[in-house]
Amino acid sequence: MLDLAIILPTLNERGNLAPLLERIATAMGTQGWEVIIVDDDSHDGTADEARALALADPRVRVIQRIGRRGLASAAIEGFCATAAPYVAVMDADHQHDPALLPAMLAALHSGEAEICVASRFMPGASTAEWAAPGRERLSAFANGLARRLTGVELSDPMSGYFMLPAATARALVPRLSGIGFKILLDLLATADAPLRVREFPLCFAARREGESKLDRAVLFDFLAGLYDKTLGRVIPTRFALFGTVGALGVIVHFAVLASLLFLFGEGFALAQSAAVLVAMSFNFWLNNWLTYRDKRLKGWGAVLRGWAGFCATCAVGAFANVAVATFLEGKGVFWALAALTGILLGSVWNYALSSRFVWGR
Ligand code: GDD
Ligand code: MN
Repeated sequence: MLDLAIILPTLNERGNLAPLLERIATAMGTQGWEVIIVDDDSHDGTADEARALALADPRVRVIQRIGRRGLASAAIEGFCATAAPYVAVMDADHQHDPALLPAMLAALHSGEAEICVASRFMPGASTAEWAAPGRERLSAFANGLARRLTGVELSDPMSGYFMLPAATARALVPRLSGIGFKILLDLLATADAPLRVREFPLCFAARREGESKLDRAVLFDFLAGLYDKTLGRVIPTRFALFGTVGALGVIVHFAVLASLLFLFGEGFALAQSAAVLVAMSFNFWLNNWLTYRDKRLKGWGAVLRGWAGFCATCAVGAFANVAVATFLEGKGVFWALAALTGILLGSVWNYALSSRFVWGR
């Protein structure tokens, strides 16, 4: 009987799959399991390798997604694609030891836990990588925040290796925030009542092959997630990020303008134009890097096209901004209020259009 679906999100993990399947098969023995490989159209042929493995072993299933990206959404895809009563998510790069799977499953069967998490930071655990200074304090801080958010005590809320009943996962999916937020924390924070957690010490191994796909801005993800769960309902997280980037852009604008005027003395129009171009490019870069880090445009062609689209969007936004502000001011609205309304309108415009046409994919 099928009992556990092990979801392996993959992005260029071709060489890691076959040996990992062997390790999973060894760990799970005769218990009913399946592996669901959710591949985001890796260019190293991971999906083809997965299909070859699935032909040889019917316990292996493949979901190849084209035009979509993201670790969290890949996990969700897996939750919804299985008939197994339990689901686990783990890295496909051998950093997560499959030997923990049976014990986690047993804890769910017995009702001892409602969700099991493999922790890199509890007694008995270890990590092969990363001993950055200040890590301990940072982790304590993050864990404190996570506790307040989820009502659960966890030593490793950012873990990417966990297991829970599939029905629980699916029931939470419609309310997950999804953006740049670790799926485990998102599940825990979304649950109506705190889930009973059991942690298992993990010896976090080094990657077997290839390189990490997630950048190290874990703390950023975390803070964005916190914001999303608290104030995100009032002002959507992405819009808040977009607005913050825009405000930084204003500072950049003034810095460039002031420097040029100071250097050349004359030619305000030219200096202002240069400042607009620099600020727009800065905003594009920072939005691509932070606001849309899960949809980041990469490669010269894509970046250049994105940049041009962003500039075009901003140009129209600026026009709307000036038109509305001028109209309001003409109607006798206090100048600062008129300007602010124009700015807000321009920002919403820029946000709506660029999220659709620059980073919408
Ligand atoms: N389908 C899909 N789509 N899979 C992805 C994507 C994606 O956009 N990005 C990454 N993956 C896959 C990778 O191929 C790998 O199997 C797994 O997801 C985790 O990615 P890694 O690149 O190995 O992440 P990491 O090892 O740097 O990060 C680890 O630590 C994080 C906490 O700091 C992982 O365990 C994360 O899950 C964990 O949150
Ligand atoms: Mn990994």
